[in-house]
Amino acid sequence: MSLKGEILEKLKSVFPSHVSGQSIAESFGVSRSAVWKAVNRLKREGYPIEGSPRRGYRLTAPSDLLTRENLLPLLKTRTFGRSGYFHHREVTSTNDVAKLLAREGCPHGTVIVAEAQSRGRGRLGRSWLSPPGAGIYFSLVLRPDFEPPLAPRITLLAGVAVARAIQSLSSLEPKIKWPNDVLLGERKVAGILMEMEAEADLIHYLVLGVGVNANMDRAQLPESLNATSLFLETRTTHSRCELLARVLYELESLWDELLSRGFEPVAEMWREMSFTLGKIVKVEKKEEILCGQAEDIDEHGCLLVRDQEGRIHRVSHGEVMHVR
Ligand code: BTN
Repeated sequence: MSLKGEILEKLKSVFPSHVSGQSIAESFGVSRSAVWKAVNRLKREGYPIEGSPRRGYRLTAPSDLLTRENLLPLLKTRTFGRSGYFHHREVTSTNDVAKLLAREGCPHGTVIVAEAQSRGRGRLGRSWLSPPGAGIYFSLVLRPDFEPPLAPRITLLAGVAVARAIQSLSSLEPKIKWPNDVLLGERKVAGILMEMEAEADLIHYLVLGVGVNANMDRAQLPESLNATSLFLETRTTHSRCELLARVLYELESLWDELLSRGFEPVAEMWREMSFTLGKIVKVEKKEEILCGQAEDIDEHGCLLVRDQEGRIHRVSHGEVMHVR
């Protein structure tokens, strides 16, 4: 672990008490000036650290920044978030940063996370509200070796992973609106934006952007969005670090499952958590509006909708509205 990481662990272990610069220097065998520099780096990253000449350093509040140092002790993955991890205070969109890194060749499993996004993006050209420190905004770079038409499976997989992570850390029962909006009740708590660069038969990379409304209060989520947060549903603050670690773990487990056993086990989990199947839906496609019953998903992750004449339509993208 880096000196910065060691100091952080020490400060966390004595929180809210102080630890002297001298004792940190002695226990890690470094100079006091090295300690001072590492503490300043932590402060620049946003850790609330206070220094007093006689008593030393202390954290003034428990830190839930999504830094590598905070995440690693909780992370149970082999690759995701370990092959590369980039933490930013603010970016335009983590998907934009991820695409740049992916073009430069960053490894499969690289994670880019931000405390805030100034131009967070959602599906269908929408924006994604990303106030500082309240939610989780991250992108995962994947380098699958299957063909582009199979990529939509990954967005369904991501919805299942986020829903399972929420379920395992709370008493909540999330549902998934096709393709991958994670809902609590009828309100959206998380969304996924997958972008990819591909040729006809080869995916160069996929960027899976995940946004989870963790601790937003009502003022941070306008009523018109029909959104909710874990905080609003449970009235307790959730550890964003634990949640991110869990989402990455679920993503990696389902990814492994997909590679070893194919899509069906993931599809079955999706069906069990589905909010959409069995409902009458309206799907806006380019020129037409299709209305019918959502019957199933297929092996590509497309939604199968039966219209009034009994014909089955495969829906691969677009907005799905639930009529009843
Ligand atoms: C949606 O439901 O419309 C998708 C929302 C995706 C939001 C996440 S936040 C992290 C990543 N960066 C972005 O700009 N968007 C995704």
